[in-house]
Amino acid sequence: MIATVKDIAAFEGQTVTLSGWIYNVAGKGKLLFLQLRDGTGIIQCVLNKGTLGDEAFDAVKALGQESSLSVDGVVVRDSRSKVGFELQVSAARVIGPAEGYPITPKEHGDAFLFDHRHLWFRSKGPHAILHVRHLIIQAIRNYFDSRGFLLLDSPIFTPNACEGTSTLFETEYFGRTAYLSQSGQLYQEAGATAFGKTYCFGPTFRAEKHDTRRHLNEFWMVEPEIAFIDLDGIMDMCEDFIVEVVAHVLTHGRHHLEELGRDLSVLERVQKPFVRMSYDEACVIIARLAAENPGQDPPINPVDPEDDFGATHETWLTKQYDRPIMVHRFPTVVKAFYMKADPENPARALGVDLLASEGYGEVIGGGQREDSYDELVRKIHHHQLPMDAFEWYLDLRRYGTVPHGGMGAGVERLVTWICGIHNVREAIPFPRTVSRLTP
Ligand code: 4AD
Ligand code: MG
Repeated sequence: MIATVKDIAAFEGQTVTLSGWIYNVAGKGKLLFLQLRDGTGIIQCVLNKGTLGDEAFDAVKALGQESSLSVDGVVVRDSRSKVGFELQVSAARVIGPAEGYPITPKEHGDAFLFDHRHLWFRSKGPHAILHVRHLIIQAIRNYFDSRGFLLLDSPIFTPNACEGTSTLFETEYFGRTAYLSQSGQLYQEAGATAFGKTYCFGPTFRAEKHDTRRHLNEFWMVEPEIAFIDLDGIMDMCEDFIVEVVAHVLTHGRHHLEELGRDLSVLERVQKPFVRMSYDEACVIIARLAAENPGQDPPINPVDPEDDFGATHETWLTKQYDRPIMVHRFPTVVKAFYMKADPENPARALGVDLLASEGYGEVIGGGQREDSYDELVRKIHHHQLPMDAFEWYLDLRRYGTVPHGGMGAGVERLVTWICGIHNVREAIPFPRTVSRLTP
């Protein structure tokens, strides 16, 4: 019977066939203890020279790490094993021998590991992270699918900027210039007016030159958009969404988080309500923190009231709270052209950033969109964007405009925070950064 490590409990006492790769091997006289990795888990296989015969035993003994093989054996309960069982092997067949596998149990540098990313994610840490990523994506889809959102895929080739012209990847498109999408939002705004609630979920491209622990040049983002909603409604959704995503991972991926040494109590505290504060309120708090904590490296400079936060500000601010926070009403001047100005203070935009706890910072950006035709035209001019590329977008204000809004949640930022790891690069199978295009 063909079995997998994950389902091994169902085969107790039976003889099964397992196929996989050698994670580790240790020998003791006529016994060989093989850690077999089959992609679903790792199980100890005990090989006995007497049972297998000299030739088969020696053939397995000579195999290097990550050689592939098939073994037949009896599934026996073993309380010391992580999976609760071990396999007492009666036959083994070598499939693909490996010699000199580059990733060994010793420590390797980051650059070396990322150069070997195609092999590295066979290891336990990356394996756990990518499982958590899978669960997060599953939770994201469940969240929107179960609430009546229509999946409406946005295009990747676009004729215009969405999030500022400085981070566009340009490409030649049959004699014209096209850009790789920075955000599918504008198309979702069309979707919301047609279907009420839509979302897109896909890769997003930003030609950001900074190689930081938070930035990728290709990342995945989910972007829901809703008609007839205001900023408060959007904040309610962001909060509810985060609580549900974290709960899903805690329910279905606890063992992966434990493998990563994640402090689960931090995630268990991710419950409603999250603190909401305006940007101006946040500036006051940051100024106080700067005064109370002199001599920090990097220093906590007070925020310029007409500028965006820096990473240090976000880090300090979020460390004051035991769960994510939402900062709203940022200076209009630092925000994208499509954001609606606060009618009570036009210097502030009706946008929100959701900042994860423990200094992880922004994981969601969203807000209410400019729904006035005249205001939007003014903003497109003001941002020096090409009006003709936005004619279709202006149609959404010409024909039955409504208050609407949405958000974008970055998958890798969520994975990084939920796993409690250091760098977004580890949160995606094959990272694309300024310095990395391979593998
Ligand atoms: O704040 P951003 O730029 O917002 C938008 O793109 C809006 N159009 C979204 C919307 O309202 N539909 O990006 C949204 C999120 C960020 O909060 C962050 O999680 C992620 O996308 N993100 C990045 N993740 C990794 N690397 C980068 N360079 C990222 N830039 C943004
Ligand atoms: Mg943002």
